[in-house]
Amino acid sequence: MHASSTNASRTPSCPRPDGPYDALVVGGGVIGLVTAWRAAQRGLRTAVADPAPGGGAAQVAAGMLAAVTELHYGEQTLLALNLASARRYPDFVAELEEAGGQDVGYRACGTLAVAFDPDDRAQLRELHDFQRRLGLESQWLTGRECRRLEPMLAPGVRGGLRVDGDHQVDPRRLAAALLTACARAGVVFHRARAERLTLTADRATGVELADGTRLAAERTVLAAGSFSGRLADVPEDALPPVRPVKGQVLRLRVPPAYAPFLSRTVRAQVRGGHVYLVPRENGELVVGATSEELGWDTTVTAGGVYELLRDAHELVPGITELPLVETRAGLRPGSPDNAPLLGPSALPGLLVATGHYRNGVLLTPVTGDIMAEVLTDGELPDEARPFSPRRFPAARTDLPPTRADFPPARPGIPVPQEHPA
Ligand code: GLY
Repeated sequence: MHASSTNASRTPSCPRPDGPYDALVVGGGVIGLVTAWRAAQRGLRTAVADPAPGGGAAQVAAGMLAAVTELHYGEQTLLALNLASARRYPDFVAELEEAGGQDVGYRACGTLAVAFDPDDRAQLRELHDFQRRLGLESQWLTGRECRRLEPMLAPGVRGGLRVDGDHQVDPRRLAAALLTACARAGVVFHRARAERLTLTADRATGVELADGTRLAAERTVLAAGSFSGRLADVPEDALPPVRPVKGQVLRLRVPPAYAPFLSRTVRAQVRGGHVYLVPRENGELVVGATSEELGWDTTVTAGGVYELLRDAHELVPGITELPLVETRAGLRPGSPDNAPLLGPSALPGLLVATGHYRNGVLLTPVTGDIMAEVLTDGELPDEARPFSPRRFPAARTDLPPTRADFPPARPGIPVPQEHPA
């Protein structure tokens, strides 16, 4: 079937028909874009459907590449994928900066995770033991050693973990570079919302956009973050069971006279609450993030901002001097086991790349590689097998659709919303 769209854009040097595509990616956040870029590099005719590609998830995320400091008990399988992606970052960045023609703000700066009161310290000690049992690089420091490393830290810091392998990237620049790399690789952009899946017999055959345009595709990839479970006409057993987990994030600016304010990412447990500060080379300081199960709400609240500033101030009292330049809230796509869903769904022709939850930016390189492989070979690579969407046979039973989930003013899949990472 031929697809046409007045909104479709592509580089003049790579003329392609509007369809049928080999791969049609629904969602133009970093996960959708990396999937499209890698697919196009392998010679697949590839398109992305999104009203505002490159403008979603990356706009809120802090960009910590925190496989070790963000380790959680019971998530060892995910850890392996996180570490695999972290290892790929330097080469991925070099290739993307070349292809995208811009710097993505990758900083191999390391991370310091600190504790405040005795309970925070005890929990951080337990995390350190867990990290060491898993063979991860992590060094315990006294409070004084932490302050020697980061002199802006408060005297109350009681100890911390130095993890030199947890780095950062600027997600906004990452998204911008991916967008350019996709365009240069010949990816076609349909700047409209995907409204519904189209099916022939028992196979996905593409999507219908909100403007009525039909896009035909051999394989359709759902990569719309927490909205991936909302595409109309996807059979129940193929819908990815993702839910939105709200995160509020602040951005401050470090004036040149105050630099260097912090030299690495600093995370902290402050009387049980979690906060992180991510300093960029361009002077931006990202402070995050709340974690709230509030459905589709993306309101920035006084309480959320207060808690972040309160904890960040306890950690680094000097932040009160810095200009506060932005407050935003976004939605992490959470899955039932906090790990991503990658690969073929229960419906032939429909694949999924979503559910990255706290690790979307970290998992961008490995997701691109995995999705390109499954799109070209039809097989999930070994490293991705634990993350098959089919591990949730009763998909979506924990997420009953309600009227509130489907507001009439915004049918179909909206712009993938932003989520911290
Ligand atoms: N990975 C950090 C966050 O989700 O807030």
